[in-house]
Amino acid sequence: MKANRRVTVLEDPTDLARKGADFVARSAAASAARDQSFTLAISGGSTPRPMHRMFAQEPYRSLIEWNRVRLFWVDERCVPPDDPESNFGAARKDFLDHLPIPAGQVHPMPWGLEPEVGASAYEKEIRRAFALDKAGYPSLDTVVLGMGQDGHVASLFPGSESLNERDRLVLDVRGGVPEVNRLTLTLPVLNRAKEILFMVSGERKAPVVKALLEDDDADLPAQRVQPLEGRVTWLLDKGAASMLRTRNEP
Ligand code: 6PG
Repeated sequence: MKANRRVTVLEDPTDLARKGADFVARSAAASAARDQSFTLAISGGSTPRPMHRMFAQEPYRSLIEWNRVRLFWVDERCVPPDDPESNFGAARKDFLDHLPIPAGQVHPMPWGLEPEVGASAYEKEIRRAFALDKAGYPSLDTVVLGMGQDGHVASLFPGSESLNERDRLVLDVRGGVPEVNRLTLTLPVLNRAKEILFMVSGERKAPVVKALLEDDDADLPAQRVQPLEGRVTWLLDKGAASMLRTRNEP
């Protein structure tokens, strides 16, 4: 067990979504009390979508002070928002269109620019939106991550140079499924978050979850998510946790 890591196994994907939404609601309340606002970065893919849909329903619709949320993306596919592969497009459908987040507080990654221009533009947008630390990095309140079957996190894929990035906040990369140009936050940004929530679902990810949590030498991108000061919470459903030796870490 790692000191700043907590692992919880949930019955099924619906429980996983509810626990994720509870986590975000708690973090939002704590951050809003401290800073008047709550900075949240969300991932794409299929796993977070049931949680996103719950955001638009009670109790989360009322529980979370949506007008204080400042929303960012962990990564994005360089496709228009109405493309089924767009993370922003999916979030819009799932919760953004149904909740009172002021438009100026929603920061989708740019999709219509050349990828490297888009990455620089988003980097500038982040620099403007946050009080940066001495090294020039922001500290997001909460970052929600998924993990691919190959251990990738955000759009940081195994063996990719982007895993070694130390200066940039946002990179353009190519890869993943679908294999398209993508923009992604870098590890130095992810690792400055105050809270990181990983959500992983399904038996097909059981082998990578096992490698990730039980084999320190597996060298998976998701293992490089090690916040400097924050905490990592892993929410797994039973399928994803099915190969673990120990199911819950306190
Ligand atoms: C994206 C992601 C990516 C995702 C994993 C898991 O592709 O946009 O942010 O890192 O979280 O690939 O995806 P699934 O939830 O679809 O398995």
